[in-house]
Amino acid sequence: MPAQPRFPAVSRLLHWTMAVMVLIMLCIGVAMVVSLGDYHALVSIHRPLGIAILILVVVRFVNRLINPPPPLPATMSRAERLAATASELAMYGLMLVLPLVGWGMLSAARYPIVLHGSVHLPFILPHNAVLYAVLRKAHTILAYLFFLTFMAHVGAILFHTLIVRDGMLRRMAP
Ligand code: HEM
Ligand code: HEM
Repeated sequence: MPAQPRFPAVSRLLHWTMAVMVLIMLCIGVAMVVSLGDYHALVSIHRPLGIAILILVVVRFVNRLINPPPPLPATMSRAERLAATASELAMYGLMLVLPLVGWGMLSAARYPIVLHGSVHLPFILPHNAVLYAVLRKAHTILAYLFFLTFMAHVGAILFHTLIVRDGMLRRMAP
């Protein structure tokens, strides 16, 4: 196979930094709702890390416009290209919407949104118990959807790297 073009260095840095952050967030999220003892310690990491993802995804989106990805390999069919683009779009959307829903649900519950020490975020939604309940459910559903999209993403990359052997992983290698 000819050498694959690579993603620009900034894109690779953002990809791996955010991949680690998102995976930690999914694990912390699940761990904190099943562990009452560690709940407060975990949620105090979950909030600022989630807001950091919200800021970084905006930076990443702007970077993607400035530094577009290299063309997809010729080994990908039209359907695969569509699926890849859709899953990338879904992951960008989830990196934006999930933290906003987290922030929104705590706002609707009028729960203090502490980032660190005395640094609080403002409430972005009115005080409303029904709104809180809807957003709390949405936060869970979107998080599990993110996990499924991530599994499909890694599955597709592994399929290309190990079976099709078109060096797809090398395009994003650190
Ligand atoms: C260990 C897990 C992961 C591996 C092995 C991996 C690998 C890759 C590779 C090789 C590409 C380039 C695909 C191409 O050639 O077009 C890519 C792109 C991408 N990945 Fe991952 N990835 C992982 C985790 C994640 C996670 C957790 C996220 C969610 C935040 C994510 C989001 C993306 C996005 C949005 C792209 C499109 C390129 C961009 O705009 O940065 N990946 N990934
Ligand atoms: C990409 C970002 C985020 C991811 C992947 C994520 C993921 C998760 C997951 C998997 C859960 C457990 C859901 C369940 O089992 O019901 C959870 C719960 C929670 N998340 Fe997030 N979250 C993110 C951002 C945020 C942000 C920015 C905030 C607040 C500012 C937040 C606040 C919360 C709270 C308070 C809970 C627990 C609620 C409870 O005690 O019932 N999340 N999150």
